[in-house]
Amino acid sequence: KTKKLIVDNNVNKNVVYSQAVEKLNAGEVVAFPTETVYGLGAIATDEKAVAKIFEAKGRPSDNPLIVHVGAANDIEKYVTSVPDKARACIKAFWPGPLTLILNAKPNTFASNVTAGLSTVGLRMPDHPVALDLLKMLNKPVAAPSANRSGKPSPTTALHVEKDLEGRIPMILDGGATGIGLESTVVDFTIDPPVILRPGGVTAQMMREVIGEVIEPDTTKLDEASVPRAPGMKYAHYAPDAPVYLINPDVDEVKNAIESIHMKQQKVALLAPDDFRQSEADWFFSLGDSKKLEASAHYLYAHLRACDETTADVILVTVPERTGVGAAIFNRLEKAADGNWWYS
Ligand code: TXA
Ligand code: MG
Repeated sequence: KTKKLIVDNNVNKNVVYSQAVEKLNAGEVVAFPTETVYGLGAIATDEKAVAKIFEAKGRPSDNPLIVHVGAANDIEKYVTSVPDKARACIKAFWPGPLTLILNAKPNTFASNVTAGLSTVGLRMPDHPVALDLLKMLNKPVAAPSANRSGKPSPTTALHVEKDLEGRIPMILDGGATGIGLESTVVDFTIDPPVILRPGGVTAQMMREVIGEVIEPDTTKLDEASVPRAPGMKYAHYAPDAPVYLINPDVDEVKNAIESIHMKQQKVALLAPDDFRQSEADWFFSLGDSKKLEASAHYLYAHLRACDETTADVILVTVPERTGVGAAIFNRLEKAADGNWWYS
C-alpha cells in the first residue's frame, strides 16, 4: 500500500519528483530524506493534509511541525520580521540543520502546523532530494520526522517503512541520511536567541556568527524560565527495552553487564569501539569516541536494531557533551527517560 520510489542517479529524478508533487498537491503525505532524518511532509497550508501527518505518526496535536522551504528568501513571505541575528544564521547555516523559530504572519499556515502558536519553525534542508522536491513543488512543506511518535527518528527509508507501512502512500528512498540527528531548533523571537533542541549546528558554531546564544540545560527546562520546544516534553527516541545511561568507563560497564547477567537477563551495549571486547550479548559500535559525528550518524539505527534483539536491558555510554555531543547526550537522555545505571 505504501509506494517506495528510489531516487538515485539511475532513475529519471524528475519522474519520481513529479509523482511526489502530484501526491502532495492532492492533499496526501509523502516521506522524503533530509540531511538530518527522514521527514513526513504535507503542504503547510493544507489543514486536512497536515492532519494526516499527525494521524500517521500518532503524534499529539499540541506539538507543532517544522516548515521546510526550498529557498531562503521564501521566509519573508511567512514571518512578520527577520531579526539581524536570524538573518546572519540563515546566511551561515542554510541550507542546513538549523530550524529558526520566528513570529509567523497570521493565517499563513494551517493552524495545526503551529499547534495554535503565533510562532513557526522554519528550515531549509541541505539534501538534494528534499531541495529538488521543494523547488518543484514551490510551496512550504510541514514535516516532522517520519517515525511513529515515540520511536527513534528514521535515518533510512527502511526505518520509515517499518513504522509507517500502510499508513502513508509514498516514500522517496534517497538512502541513509547524513547527520542522523534532528536539526537544531533555536528561538529567535527573543534576544539572545535560545537553543530549544541541540543538533548539528552547535552552540559554539552559532556564537562565532552572532555572539551570545543561550543553551539551557535541557534536562532542567521545566524549572527554567525559558521557552521550550513543545515536542521535547514527550518520551522520545526510545526502543522497546529499557535504556540506561552509563559512563564510558571499562570497569563500570563490566560490572553493569555482570550484574545484568546475574539476573539471567540479556544486555545490548551501545558504546565506542574500545568496548568491543565487553561481555554484552549484543554490541553496537558508536565508532571512535573522538568522532562524534559518526556516533550521531549511527545512533538511531542502533537504537532501532536493539528492537530486533531479545535484549532485556540496553546500556548506552554517554559522549562528551561538547559540539554535536550535546545533541547526542540530549537524545540519549530522552531514550533513557533520564535513567542512569547504578550497579
Ligand atoms: O531535522 C529535523 O528537524 C527533522 C527533519 C524532517 O527536518 N524534523 C523534525 O521535526 O525533527 P519534529 O517535528 O520531529 O521536531 C520538531 C521540533 C519539536 O520538538 C517541536 O516541538 C519544535 O520543533 N517546534 C516546532 N515548531 C515550534 C515552535 N513554533 N515553537 C517551539 N518549538 C517548535
Ligand atoms: Mg520527531
